[in-house]
Amino acid sequence: MSEFDLVVRGGTIVTASDRFRADLGIRDGRIVQIGHDLSGAREVLDATGRLVLPGGVDAHVHLAQPTSDGTIMADDFDSGTRAAAAGGSTTVLPFALQEKGKSLREAVRDYHAKAEGNCHVDVAFHLIVSDPTPQVLGQELPALIRDGYSSFKVFMTYDDLRLTDAELLDVFEVARREKALVMVHAEGHDAIRHITRKLEAAGQTAPYYHAIAHSEIAEREATHRAISHAQLVDVPIVIVHVSGRDPMEQIQWARKRGLRVHAETCPQYIALTRDDLKGLNMDFEGAKYVCSPPPRDTAAQEAIWEGLRDGTFDLFSSDHAPFRYQGEAGTGKDNPRARTSFKWVPNGIPGIETRLPILFSEGVSKGRISIERFVELTATNPAKLYGLYPRKGSIVVGGDADLVLWDPEEARTITQGDLHHGSDYTPYEGMQVTGWPQVVVLKGQVVVRNGVVDTDARRGGHIDRTAI
Ligand code: URP
Ligand code: ZN
Ligand code: ZN
Repeated sequence: MSEFDLVVRGGTIVTASDRFRADLGIRDGRIVQIGHDLSGAREVLDATGRLVLPGGVDAHVHLAQPTSDGTIMADDFDSGTRAAAAGGSTTVLPFALQEKGKSLREAVRDYHAKAEGNCHVDVAFHLIVSDPTPQVLGQELPALIRDGYSSFKVFMTYDDLRLTDAELLDVFEVARREKALVMVHAEGHDAIRHITRKLEAAGQTAPYYHAIAHSEIAEREATHRAISHAQLVDVPIVIVHVSGRDPMEQIQWARKRGLRVHAETCPQYIALTRDDLKGLNMDFEGAKYVCSPPPRDTAAQEAIWEGLRDGTFDLFSSDHAPFRYQGEAGTGKDNPRARTSFKWVPNGIPGIETRLPILFSEGVSKGRISIERFVELTATNPAKLYGLYPRKGSIVVGGDADLVLWDPEEARTITQGDLHHGSDYTPYEGMQVTGWPQVVVLKGQVVVRNGVVDTDARRGGHIDRTAI
C-alpha cells in the first residue's frame, strides 16, 4: 500500500507568512507531511517551476440568487463553482438570500437544494437578511448562526433588500449576542435616489450615469454610519466591496479607535474605472460594467493599492454577481426596462474565475504586493475571518489538501471564450495577465489539470462551519 495518495513534488510552497521549497504528502484528502524527497505515492504531481499555493477562498460570490425584477443570475452552482475551480479558488462563500416576506430558514433550505451534488469546489453559505421580523431576529437568525451560518450580509441600499437604520441596529444586536460577523453593503440609499432623480430629469439615463448616482460620497457616508452603529452595539463588521479612498479613510478612522472593522475590496476596483461604463460612445454596452459600488478612477485605484499593501484591506473577493448581457426574454442586463434608465440595469459583474489572475498579475507580477500578501488576501484571511481556518486557506499538516499549482510566467489575454462562467461576456475582455493556475487540487483530488476542468467530478460540497 502506498504511504500517500498524492505527492506534490519540487514546487515552491507559499503561505501568508513563508515561501520555501518542499514536497507535500497527501492522504485521505488532507496534507499529512511537508518534507523533502517524499515518495511512495499512488500519484505524483511535478510542481517544478511552479508556485504551490493554498486554494483560493472567495468570500463574496452570488450564485443562483433570486432577483425581484425578472432578471436571472447567469450562474448556478454547477457553472459558478466550475469557473471558481478554473480560476484557482477551491472554496467559495455564496449568499443564501432571504426575500422580503419569506423565511430565512427556508432560503437556506432552498439554497442547499440548489448546491447539493452540483459543486466543483467546497462552499459555505453566508446569509442575507432583508426582512428582520421578530421571528427572524428572535428565532431563525440565532438558530442559523448556532448551526454554523455565522456570517450574514445586510444592505443599506437597493429597494428590495435595504434595512432602515433601526433594523440595522437590531440585526447588529443579534450578531453581537450570537457572535456572528455582519457584512455591510454601505451605500447611502437616499443620496443615490436624490442624484438619480436629478439625472433622470435631465435625460441622463445611460448606464454610465449609474457611476455618477452611486457617488463615492454616498459610500463614504454609509460606511461611517455603519461603523457608528457597530460601535454603538459593540459588534465587529466587514465593510464589503470598498471602492476608493473616501470609504477607506472611514475604516482607517475606526481602526485607530480600536473598533473591529474589517474591509474587503475586489478586482473591479483595481482593473476598471467609471469610464468603462461609457461603453463605446455612452451606449448601452456600458451596462456590462454596472455594479455597486461602481468602479471609480485611477486615483481611487491607487488608493486601493495602498490599502492592499498597508493592511487596510483584509480580503480580496470577487463579488461575482453574474448576469448575461443578452439574456433570454429580458432576463439579462439588456432588457427593455434597463434601456429606459440606468437604475433598472441589474447590478453586478462576473469575476469568480479572473479574481486570482488579476490580483497576481497586477499585484505580484508588477511588484505592488508580495506573493505572501497575495495568499493572505485571497485565501488565509477569508478562511480565518469566516471560520474555515485551518482546514481551509493555508498549507498545513492536517488541513485539507486544497492546492493550486500556479505558473507565475504564463501570459494570457483574458477572453470570454476561455472562461467557464455562465455569463456571455467578461468585463475584463482583452486584459493581459501574467500568471495563471495550471493544476487545482481539491481535498487531494485533481479537479483542474493543465487548465482543463474535470467537469464530471463535482467533488465539492457544503462545509459545516460548526465542525471546523
Ligand atoms: O453590484 C453588485 N455588487 N451586485 C451584487 C450584489 C452586491 O451588492 O454585492
Ligand atoms: Zn453588496
Ligand atoms: Zn456582492
